[in-house]
Amino acid sequence: MDEERKLTNEVGAPVPDNEHAITAGPRGPVVMQDVWMMEKIAHFNREVIPERRMHAKGWGAYGSLTVTGDVSKYTRAKVLQPGKKTELFIRFSTVAGERGAADAERDIRGVAVKFYTEEGNWDLVGNNTPTFFIRDVHNFSDLNRAVKRDPRSGLRSAQNNWDFWTLLPETFHQTTIVMSDRGIPATFRNMHFYGEHTFALYNEKNERVWCKFHFHTKQGVKNLTDEEAEKICSTDRESHGRDLFESIERGEFPQWTMYIQVMTEEQAKKHYENPFDITKIWRHGEFPLIEVGTLELNRNPDNYYAEVEQAAFTPAHVVPGIGFSPDKFLQGRLFAYGDAQRYRLGINYNQIPVNRARVEVNDYHRDGQMRTDGNYGATPAYTPNSAGVWAAQPEVAEPPLDLEGAVYRFDPKEDPTDDNFRAGGELYRLLKEDKRALLIDNTTRNIASVTENIKYRHAVHCLLADTEYGERITAAMGLDLNRVKELSKLDNDGLIKATTGA
Ligand code: HEM
Repeated sequence: MDEERKLTNEVGAPVPDNEHAITAGPRGPVVMQDVWMMEKIAHFNREVIPERRMHAKGWGAYGSLTVTGDVSKYTRAKVLQPGKKTELFIRFSTVAGERGAADAERDIRGVAVKFYTEEGNWDLVGNNTPTFFIRDVHNFSDLNRAVKRDPRSGLRSAQNNWDFWTLLPETFHQTTIVMSDRGIPATFRNMHFYGEHTFALYNEKNERVWCKFHFHTKQGVKNLTDEEAEKICSTDRESHGRDLFESIERGEFPQWTMYIQVMTEEQAKKHYENPFDITKIWRHGEFPLIEVGTLELNRNPDNYYAEVEQAAFTPAHVVPGIGFSPDKFLQGRLFAYGDAQRYRLGINYNQIPVNRARVEVNDYHRDGQMRTDGNYGATPAYTPNSAGVWAAQPEVAEPPLDLEGAVYRFDPKEDPTDDNFRAGGELYRLLKEDKRALLIDNTTRNIASVTENIKYRHAVHCLLADTEYGERITAAMGLDLNRVKELSKLDNDGLIKATTGA
C-alpha cells in the first residue's frame, strides 16, 4: 500500500486493524493489550478544550493589509508605512453564544485581527461597533454573566440583560446600536468594524498622538431583521461562517478600507468628553477619518481547530509605533487575554503556528507544557549575560506620558462632562424613519418579557437621549409617559431607587 495511506498509531507504528477489538474468544471481553483501542478512546476523551469565555463561536480567514495612504507622520510602525503589505489572520465571532450557538443572533460581533508584521505580531481585537457597553474592568465579568445564561435556569435571560444594562446608563449608546438594524449583520462581510479604544501612535521623532482604528466594509452594510434572522437560524446555524468560507472559496475576497482618527495630546486635554472613555465616540466632523489602506481576506484556513479555535489574540500585542492609552478598560484587557489563553491553550500557545510570529522570537521564556521548539538550545537562560545575546532595544521605547491626579477609585459620575445619552440621541436622530421604527420594534420585542420597573428605566434613558425616542418607546412598551417624565427628573441614583424592586 501507498506509504502515506498507512494507518499508524501516535508514534508512527502501523496499525493492523481499526474496526475489531481484541477479545478473549469470539464472545469474550476486550483485553488490555488492545492498546490501539485505548489510545483512540483516551485521545478522543481529551479532544475538547475550554471554549473562549465569551466570543466562543467564531470563524477565521487569512488575508493582508496593503497601505495606500501615508500616516508616517503619526506612526513609525512598519506595518503602517506607505506601500507596505502585511499578512494577517482574522477571527469573527458573536459574543454571548456558546461554541454551538447560531450565527445570526442579535449580538455584537467580535473582529480580531493578527497582523504578522516584520516587527512582531500586532493584534487589534475589536468589535463591529465604535463604542462599548461599559468602561470599567470591574463590570466586564458581570456584563458577560448578564448576557449569558442564568445560573438557576440555564436559560438566556432578557430580564438579566436589561436589568444590568439599565443600571449602568453608560451602556445606552451601545444598547441602542444592538437594538437597531445593525444588531444582526447579514454577514461578516457586510459590516464595519472598529478597534473601539483610544490607542497611541508615535512617530520616528517619538511624538505621540491618540488614535482610533476604523474598518469600513467595501461590500456595503447589510443587516437582517429579526424575522429574516429567525428563518435563517431555523435552517442554518452557521450562516455567517458559511458565507465567509464560501465567498473566499469562490474567489470573492471581501475588503475593508482601514482608517484612523487622530487627536493630539493637546486636543485630548481640552476635549469636552473623556477621550479615553470607550463608551464615548470621537465625532467624525471633529476628528475626520484618515485613510490608511485596504484589508483583504483571501484564504481559508485548512483546519478549523488548528487555526481558528487555537487562534489567540490579545490587545497586549503591539509593535513599535503603536501603543496603549490611559483608557482604563483597555488597561484591564491587557491582562485578561494572555491569562485566558494560558488556561485555554497552555503557556506555550504562541508557538501554535497560527499564533507564531513570522519573525524570530527571542524572549528568554523557557520550558513549560507543550514546548515544541528547540527551547533555545544552549543559549544563556538569563539576562544580562556576557554572551551578548538578545539585548533589549531602548530605541523602540515609547515616549513618556505625563499623568496627573490622585490614585483612587474614580467614578465617572463625578465628571461633570460625562453625558451617557448624548451619542445615543445623536444616533437616533441620524436614523431615517424606517430605521427608527425598526429600533423601537426590535427593542419592544426584546424587552417584552422584562419586568415593568426595568422598562421604565430604559424609557427614561431614551427620553433623556431624545424626546421622540423616549415618547415612542414609552408608547410601544405600553408605559405611562407622565411617570417616565417624572422619573427623568431624578438623578441616576434616584432613578435606580425609584425603579428597584418596583
Ligand atoms: C475589560 C474588558 C474586557 C475583558 C476583560 C475581555 C476579556 C476577554 C477574554 C478573556 C476573551 C477570551 C480570550 C481567549 O480565550 O482567547 C475575550 C475575547 C474577545 N474579546 Fe474581549 N474583553 C474585554 C473587552 C473587550 C472589548 C472592549 C472588545 C472590543 C473592542 C473585545 C473584543 C474581544 C474579541 C473580538 C474577542 C474574541 C477574540 C478571538 O476571536 O479569539 N473585548 N475577551
